[in-house]
Amino acid sequence: MTTQTQDTSLLESLEKERRKFPPPPEFKKKALVKSKAVYKEADSDYEAFWAKYAETELHWFKKWDKALEWNAPWAKWFVGGQINISYNCVDRHTTTWRRTKAAIVWEGEPGDSRTFTYQDLHREVQLFANALKDLGVQKGDRVTLYTGMVPELPIAMLACARIGAVHSVVFGGFTVEALRDRINDSQAKVVITQDGGWRRGSIVPLKQFADQAVQGCPTVEKVVVVRRAGEKAPVTMQAGRDFWWHELTAKASPVCPAEPLDSEHPLYILYTSGTTGKPKGILHTTGGYLLGAHMTAKWVFDIKDEDYYWCTADIGWVTGHSYIVYGPLSNGATSVMYEGAPDFPEKDRFWAIVEKYRVNTCYTSPTFIRTCMKWGKEYPNRRDLSSLRLLGTVGEPINPEAWIWYNETIGKGRCPIVDTWWQTETGSILITPLPGAVTTKPGSATIPFPGIAAEIVDEQGKPVPPNTGGYLVVSRPWPSMLRSIWGDPDRYVKQYWSRFPGRYFTGDGARRDKDGYFWITGRVDDVVKVAGHRLSNIEIESALVAHPAVAEAATVGRDDAVKGQAIAAFVVLKSGNNPSEPLKQQLKQWIGQKIGPIARPDDIFFSADLPKTRSAKIMRRLLRDIAEGRVLGDTTTLSDPKVMEDIRQSYIAEGKEEA
Ligand code: PRX
Repeated sequence: MTTQTQDTSLLESLEKERRKFPPPPEFKKKALVKSKAVYKEADSDYEAFWAKYAETELHWFKKWDKALEWNAPWAKWFVGGQINISYNCVDRHTTTWRRTKAAIVWEGEPGDSRTFTYQDLHREVQLFANALKDLGVQKGDRVTLYTGMVPELPIAMLACARIGAVHSVVFGGFTVEALRDRINDSQAKVVITQDGGWRRGSIVPLKQFADQAVQGCPTVEKVVVVRRAGEKAPVTMQAGRDFWWHELTAKASPVCPAEPLDSEHPLYILYTSGTTGKPKGILHTTGGYLLGAHMTAKWVFDIKDEDYYWCTADIGWVTGHSYIVYGPLSNGATSVMYEGAPDFPEKDRFWAIVEKYRVNTCYTSPTFIRTCMKWGKEYPNRRDLSSLRLLGTVGEPINPEAWIWYNETIGKGRCPIVDTWWQTETGSILITPLPGAVTTKPGSATIPFPGIAAEIVDEQGKPVPPNTGGYLVVSRPWPSMLRSIWGDPDRYVKQYWSRFPGRYFTGDGARRDKDGYFWITGRVDDVVKVAGHRLSNIEIESALVAHPAVAEAATVGRDDAVKGQAIAAFVVLKSGNNPSEPLKQQLKQWIGQKIGPIARPDDIFFSADLPKTRSAKIMRRLLRDIAEGRVLGDTTTLSDPKVMEDIRQSYIAEGKEEA
């Protein structure tokens, strides 16, 4: 298989990896799942398996009539059932001893902290649900949440879910245009934002960005503002449109029962990058999503009542939705949430948090682990990490070297590592070890979660033999799968279900070894993973060509030792513009403003033309060769092979060396 984006150095290191780590006996003794019996049970009848846990693990106002209705690719789970996710994550714990247990333990970047027991959360969620109703929000209405990592964010999500409003969280690191597009695509009625958010000791003016975005959003009627930065982020409140969170909740009635909702009622839309310029609104619904998030949180993170569980992701991404908010809270766990940057005020901040709260489980990204390796052992070594018992990673492939470092330096060889593979679309973890039952191998996400049918197929959709690369697909529906793309059902069918009919196409390349372990090697489409953030080449290219000096642009993801991949952009200027260092900086800044700082290219190369096939398709493979300093690949299909030589010269002129 030839894939455009597979990381060659990663492939080589995965090929060589042979080490195995069985569950440590101490861990296994107390683990919720100790044997592989659940896999057999799930495989013998996956519908019955999910139905059993839906019944025993979740609260339903009305039981479903049918566990699954599958008209490929349209799935309905727990048909006829009535449920509320906010009830499951909050109310049901308030009638048990967990009423006084910490639900959310929040640490602010400047060092302040807040703890919400389940009872506190119950009160806050009801107040804000009523505040939303007072603003005219009704069942089915969309609400955009654009804040930093403040406790009001999960409270607002749970409040929306409580009344059947559909939330759409937009990552606080996105800027005006990205926010505007997402609000407009979902046609949100209300936007919830924050005066300003802390980032490395300075303030990001979120309300100002929201004001600018909302100017172009005709559906938005009201804006709610959380006060966090106070006088450090002065805001202008537009009378009749803008309301302070604390003023609304001070007036709101304290009781708001959770609405019984159809199991398939839309829960949230979350935008993610695909292979076109337009982000996709991934739609998740209620009952099935909750079951997926609940069961995976329980078994993968082996959640115990006494645990402090910490997922370091941002709630702006799916990881935060499923594993800071819904999965842990549904399990009645204590979920730690941190507002700020990992290197503020010092590079040991995450480990200081582990030490301060005696965190037991830490779920983070390979990029963060590689960054820590670069910073050096002295930072984790300064802190007492003895409370840790389980470690996790997500978002991108982890190279064996980083896995081993994580195991030794952070886990002190005592903590199993769960490398979890999943996607915004899958809603919950699909490929992962269960830490008390599955032997791990560094760099492998191991085996599918019970009930999940993952396979690797060739171009024709035929399963490939062991140790052969291919495309990762899922061959059976699962409860937390996306139901559609918001407003674009055709794209849902085309994007995920057409390439291999009857099977869900993940967009990832992988191989499976003779033990049945999966080794994910990365995207095989135009999606790039930069520091675990999912970006689309075409989205960045469209933003580049919107700049007045740019005629054409092509971007590729190149290998990066820390971030996994970095963006390299090749830019053809309009006549009258000359390549220069200031223009390069201007273009980087432009992308930062158009999309957000995470999408800023690391490298920009100016060239006179772009390499295209005779059918005018940009040959990214060749650009990747250049960006990674490799000798040029086959250029025989180029319409004008000389173009590559010109680009190569511009690369060398940058002072870069060919590999
Ligand atoms: O390429 C895979 C990579 O992240 C993609 C999904 O990105 P996103 O929707 O942003 O969700 C990230 C968090 C769930 C996948 O298609 N990916 C995710 N987890 C892993 C991974 N690649 C390798 N190993 C993983 N554990």
